[in-house]
Amino acid sequence: MDSMAFVIGQPITHSKSPLIHNFWLKTNGLKGKYGALNISKENLEQFIIQIKSGKYVGGNITLPHKVDVIQYCDQLTISAKRISAVNTIYFRSDILVGDNTDGYGFLANLDQQALAWDAKLDRAIILGAGGAARAIVDALQQRHAKEIIILNRTLSTAQSLATAFKEQSGVSKIIAGKLIDFHKYAPKTDILVNTTSIGLNNTSFDQFDLDILSKNALVTDIVYTPLLTPLLASAQARGHKTVDGLGMLLHQAAPGFEKWFGVFPEVTKELRNLVISDMEKN
Ligand code: ATR
Repeated sequence: MDSMAFVIGQPITHSKSPLIHNFWLKTNGLKGKYGALNISKENLEQFIIQIKSGKYVGGNITLPHKVDVIQYCDQLTISAKRISAVNTIYFRSDILVGDNTDGYGFLANLDQQALAWDAKLDRAIILGAGGAARAIVDALQQRHAKEIIILNRTLSTAQSLATAFKEQSGVSKIIAGKLIDFHKYAPKTDILVNTTSIGLNNTSFDQFDLDILSKNALVTDIVYTPLLTPLLASAQARGHKTVDGLGMLLHQAAPGFEKWFGVFPEVTKELRNLVISDMEKN
C-alpha cells in the first residue's frame, strides 16, 4: 500500500500543504498520498488512535492542534520542546515523534533568499509574540543572535515569551516591549521580522516609522498573502533587502516529507510559482 500522510486542522480548506507535498511526490517519482483532513478538537484523540494503528506514516499538524497533540507524542524533538508546539509528526520504529519545523523553515528561507544574512546578528527585532514568534526566537538563538527584541501589542505576552526563553538559558539577550518601543531599538538593528497578522489582506502598522530603521537591516514577514505586504513594500521603497513569507511555508514542509517518504525535497522556483498561482485562484 502507498504511504499516506496528512495535514490535520480546523479549518483546513485553505491549507497549501497538499499542493506542496503532492508536487514533491510527483517530481520525485514517488508513490504516496498526502491529504488534508478536517479534524475537530473533540476528534483529535480518535484520529491519533488511527495514526498509531498504522494507517499513516505521519503528517502535519496545524491550528488548533499544535499544542494539544503534544500529549499524544511518545517523544518530542529538541525544537518541539523548545517551541512547545508540534507541526510535524512521524514514526521512529513504533515511536510517535513530534517535531516543530517552523524555525527550520524560517532559517532555510533566509539562507536561500538572503546570502550571509546571519553574518552579523547583533540585534533582531521580532514583531509579535505568538506561536510563530516563539519558533523564530528559537531559530535566531541557533544562529547566535546577540540580542532579540520581542515587541508586541500586548506587553505581557511578549514578557512571558521572553521569560520562557530566558529560563532555557539560550545564547541571546532577550528583551520584551510594546510595538511603540520600535523607535528605541530600530536605529541599530540587523533584522526585522513581522510575525503578527498585520499585513494580511494589506493591513499595515500605524505605530511606527520605518525611516529610523538601520539602512542595512533585512526585513522579512511571515505573512504571505499578499506576498508583498505593506511592511515589505515600504522597506523596499527605503532600499532594504526584503524576504517574503512564502519561502518559510515551503521550507518548513521539507523535513516532514523526508521522514514520511524518504527523500529530502527541494524548494524550487517551480514549486513557488505553483503555490502563487493557486493563491491567485482563491
Ligand atoms: P501565530 O501562531 O501565527 O503567531 P498567534 O499565536 O495568534 O498566531 O499570534 C498572533 C500575533 O499577532 C500576536 O502577537 C498578536 O498580538 P497580541 O498578543 O497583542 O494579541 C498579534 N496581532 C494580531 N492582530 C494584531 C493587531 N491588529 N495589531 C497588533 N498585533 C496583532
